[in-house]
Amino acid sequence: MANVLLIKANSRPIEQSVSVKLYHSFKESYQAANPEDTITELDLFNENLPYYDNDKINGMFKLSRGLELTDSEVEATNLVTKYLDQFIAADKVVIAFPLWNFTVPAVLHTYLDYLAQAGKTFKYTAEGPVGLLGDKKVVLLNARGGIYSEGPAQSAEMAVNFVTNMLHFWGVTNITTVIVEGHNQYPDQAEEIIATGLDKAATVAREF
Ligand SMILES: Cc1cc2nc3c(=O)[nH]c(=O)nc-3n(C[C@H](O)[C@H](O)[C@H](O)COP(=O)(O)O)c2cc1C
Repeated sequence: MANVLLIKANSRPIEQSVSVKLYHSFKESYQAANPEDTITELDLFNENLPYYDNDKINGMFKLSRGLELTDSEVEATNLVTKYLDQFIAADKVVIAFPLWNFTVPAVLHTYLDYLAQAGKTFKYTAEGPVGLLGDKKVVLLNARGGIYSEGPAQSAEMAVNFVTNMLHFWGVTNITTVIVEGHNQYPDQAEEIIATGLDKAATVAREF
């Protein structure tokens, strides 16, 4: 029985959002194939995470060294640790997110700031940083209106690239990515592009 964490970084309603459609297509298919698994849903816009600020930076550093924290650092680190422990405890993680202004929505960036903790998700060694989450399986579900997989915009893509690099830094190698792209750039093909992506998300979910 796997512990699965489904993360959604888009507050738009399903009718308006391709990445939210991907999220639900994946979830329904996964649940049907794995009814015994424990699934936790994390809607990042609902969580309303405060930015990773000085109390969190200093507090998490002090915590890792066993140093005494101020009251506000205790509060800050309790919040960070809640999300960090939840992520570490998951056997499988799914992250659904749109491409916004070439990158991820700010809530997802903040969430990844919470997770990037030396001694927890990676560690420093004499040979350089080493990831600590090698056992975790991850699926990324992403939608982007233009084409970024090839052509002139390729180097501007900092959403899937960013999340993938963070996961690699934490030692995650088992990453499957489902991307829907070009539906805004080519509106006449949008229906088919989106339908193909939703099918793929459902297939990946059954095999995850
Ligand atoms: C705030 C915002 C910024 C966006 N920036 C880009 C962009 O830089 N490049 C692009 O191709 N599409 C961009 N889009 C379009 C989305 O990538 C597209 O709608 C895609 O389907 C993901 O959003 P969705 O999951 O809500 O549908 C943007 C959309 C919004 C709302």
